[in-house]
Amino acid sequence: MIAEELKGQNHDVFLEDFMSVQSASELLNYDLTFIGMYTWGDGDYSDECLDMIEEIEQLDLEKHPFVIFGSGNTSYSEFCGALDQLQRLIEEQGGTVVGDPLKIEFNPEPADEADIKRFVSKL
Ligand SMILES: Cc1cc2nc3c(=O)[nH]c(=O)nc-3n(C[C@H](O)[C@H](O)[C@H](O)COP(=O)(O)O)c2cc1C
Repeated sequence: MIAEELKGQNHDVFLEDFMSVQSASELLNYDLTFIGMYTWGDGDYSDECLDMIEEIEQLDLEKHPFVIFGSGNTSYSEFCGALDQLQRLIEEQGGTVVGDPLKIEFNPEPADEADIKRFVSKL
């Protein structure tokens, strides 16, 4: 939904599975890098993105701008906690997080489209 919204505003969008990115330094190849993920455990990253997170921990993000979004479940005490951890990590590594992370309850539904449009237009 975010990609479609950006394309509608004539931005070029390159979509890649976070786990397929060969090297974390590739995240810096774009004008603006969006990272989306769900939250697991107790406000934690999911296992499949841990390798990439470890790479980011070794990287100078050179003030690069990032946007963070993801899904969670408000019945957990750390709603979308992985996004808060990711925001801290990006800032510690010298990157910038643009706006507040977009937190969506469960899989995005058509009813979430208005929030997503607002989120993109603010960026
Ligand atoms: C074992 C387990 C732990 C989870 N932990 C959290 C959590 O700490 N915070 C949160 O916001 N969501 C948590 N979730 C919810 C998932 O993030 C949510 O299922 C996911 O965003 C995808 O939504 P979906 O279930 O509609 O596909 C957890 C889900 C499971 C199964």
